[in-house]
Amino acid sequence: MILAMVDRTDRAQGEFKQDRRSHMRRIGAGWLLGNPVPRYVIVAVAATGLVIGALALLASVLVKDWSQRDIELRSRLVFRSIRDQVARAMIAKPEIDLVPVFQRIAQDERILALGFCTAQAQLRYATKEFPKSVTCVSVKRSKSAAFATTVASGERIHVSSFPITAGKSTGHLLVLHDLAFIDARAAEARLYTLLTLIGVTAGLSLLATVIVLALMRAWSRSIRGALIEMQHGSASESPHHADFPISREIHTALTELRMERRFANGIHVEWSPKTLHRLLVDELPHAQVIVVSNREPYIHNRAGSAITLQIPASGLVAALEPVMRACGGTWVAHGSGSADRDTVDATDRLPVPPADPAYSLRRVWLSEKEQNGYYYGFANEGLWPLCHIAFVRPIFREEDWAQYRKVNQRFAEVIVQEASCDDPVVLVQDYHFALLPRMIRDRLPKATIITFWHIPWPNAETFGICPWREEIIDGLLGSTILGFHTQFHCNNFLEAADRFIESRIDRELASVTFRGQETLIRPYPISIEWPPAALAEQAPVRECRDAVRQRFALPADIRIAVGIERFDYTKGVLDRIRAVDDLLTSHPEWIGRFVFIQAAAPTRSKLGTYSALEAEAEQLVAKVNARHSRDGFQPVRLVIRHHEPDEVFELFRASDMCIVSSLHDGMNLVSKEFVAARDDEHGVLILSSFAGASRELSEALIVNPYDTHGMAEAFLQALRMPPAEQRDRMRLMRELVRERNVYRWAAQMLLDAARLRQRQRITSSKAAPAGRIVPLQPVPATKERKMA
Ligand code: F6P
Repeated sequence: MILAMVDRTDRAQGEFKQDRRSHMRRIGAGWLLGNPVPRYVIVAVAATGLVIGALALLASVLVKDWSQRDIELRSRLVFRSIRDQVARAMIAKPEIDLVPVFQRIAQDERILALGFCTAQAQLRYATKEFPKSVTCVSVKRSKSAAFATTVASGERIHVSSFPITAGKSTGHLLVLHDLAFIDARAAEARLYTLLTLIGVTAGLSLLATVIVLALMRAWSRSIRGALIEMQHGSASESPHHADFPISREIHTALTELRMERRFANGIHVEWSPKTLHRLLVDELPHAQVIVVSNREPYIHNRAGSAITLQIPASGLVAALEPVMRACGGTWVAHGSGSADRDTVDATDRLPVPPADPAYSLRRVWLSEKEQNGYYYGFANEGLWPLCHIAFVRPIFREEDWAQYRKVNQRFAEVIVQEASCDDPVVLVQDYHFALLPRMIRDRLPKATIITFWHIPWPNAETFGICPWREEIIDGLLGSTILGFHTQFHCNNFLEAADRFIESRIDRELASVTFRGQETLIRPYPISIEWPPAALAEQAPVRECRDAVRQRFALPADIRIAVGIERFDYTKGVLDRIRAVDDLLTSHPEWIGRFVFIQAAAPTRSKLGTYSALEAEAEQLVAKVNARHSRDGFQPVRLVIRHHEPDEVFELFRASDMCIVSSLHDGMNLVSKEFVAARDDEHGVLILSSFAGASRELSEALIVNPYDTHGMAEAFLQALRMPPAEQRDRMRLMRELVRERNVYRWAAQMLLDAARLRQRQRITSSKAAPAGRIVPLQPVPATKERKMA
């Protein structure tokens, strides 16, 4: 699938190049290729031409106007310079000839001619060039200076007329200018203005084109870079983003798009170690992953002088170990084995799996007192029965609580030591560490803390029994995301937060905001690896069956039912033995033809309820066997010891049915392992409706473990179920477990975490407080809750 996404990225890149080429054609290269010039280019060029023409015209008008005024000024100067001379001549010697004087002045290249008109409109003096068409009659002669333009012999002439009074005589001095030079000057002005404007426009256009091309190159380089990052999943913080704000925007948008796309496509991804690893590289580049749980994945025990390696019977380990093998990182856990200290290095670490190391196990040592208070006491005598409705009274002791707090604090310190950056992704596991998320948050405010609660969360009334209910909710709300197996358990937690702490609950986003920090509450149904590693070494079903028959001395035609789990009172072991009793009582024809093998791993045996359960189970088995044995054949076999995964899988494959009758269970991975083990598509799963797995494996025979006869009827139905129906049911369940495997479980959490980290990165630039998730979408109406 991820490869398919890469293909799409390649295609997207190809399409992008294609688009870019066609865009380049549109914006100009089209001229070269003979494509029509876009209309906006034509309009822009025409508008620029019009503006330039108008400016040139304006320039010529201004020049003409200015020249005209210049002529008038010059005419006045001429008039003033000879006015007195002309007046004296008019009085003293009226016959005096002023033509030489006029002729001298008319030498000025701009002046065409000078003349003098008497009061009787006779042209008394005139220079040689004085045009005949200009007469004293045709010229305006007023008491003040007058100016006019006339045309003589096809030429435009400017005539200035100035009155002169000498004694009783009056007359007018005429100064004529040829206007041809003004027209020449205006034409020149128009031309130079045009050339200047065209030059400036061309220069500016060139500069703008260079800038636009440079910007486009930078953008396209940025987009191409982001696409290549999408393809290769490289770091999101490339240095070239920093120097170019728009490329940062593009990069952010593409990253968001990629995240959205993957979220949308996530349901189709074939989740495997490879795709999970790819997800980490793509979505959480360079993130340090730290897992913390009480139970360690590998226990070293001393057996005489030898050291043995044990994989504990734990759903948590079964689920998380393959995830860690795929992701790498560090797993912090209590070192509980008798030879654990002998197998670590000086820093309490060891590489695991021992045969093919993929991650680091960091062991934490606890004293007996700490174990008694934290693990046996508060976790398993308090929280365990509190969260499971199995009608065992929870016990809460002050001293257990003190140890629980102390051990949580110890693990918090180890996590801080292990963190090589200030924002690791910390996966906190289970009810042993309810206080740890807050403690980590206080020390590493930027950490992404995903807490998964592997057991049910009870309703608010039940949870309210816990004397430290507020502290526990507070501790868990240090998480970025808090996960449960089912929506039902999420709802119960929201109810508890609503009731016991002063917080803001957003039911639409399924989040709780407390102490200024938002925690998402999400269902993540846990699962197993697919295909399970333990299946690889398994013999064919028939051989497994023969091996089990031999081990338990069973006849050839025997029908085998199995139950495999930790010996825990929540698993309903007694109830299923009672159901076997009921079956054989009401259907004695199955006596001697049906066997129930219960493999039970000792667990928490220090606790009274657990040792009492073992004793009670042994007595019950003895009673049922006594009642239904025939010819020495006992219908119930109880095997109390640890079983390694390959033994468990052999039992699953040898059986006709598997019984999971939990009185209450977060998920129950035994049911999924049974389905995974049956690659022959045979066998029937009988599953308690009180196990989270019943929400997914609906093709199982769903039973109420408190209804003994109902469960016995389910056994009978399984015994009679035709192979074709078994195959149809098994096929559907196998398909579901294959698709919803543990890699998908981890991927969903990591994808959500990646998305939040992405959002945090965006919002932190807007100075959001550390660790706070600011929803990008509008926050729907919420309800402020105050605890009474
Ligand atoms: O069911 C809760 C859980 O923590 C599981 O995840 C695990 O399988 C089991 O309890 C193990 O219990 P313990 O570690 O006490 O043996």
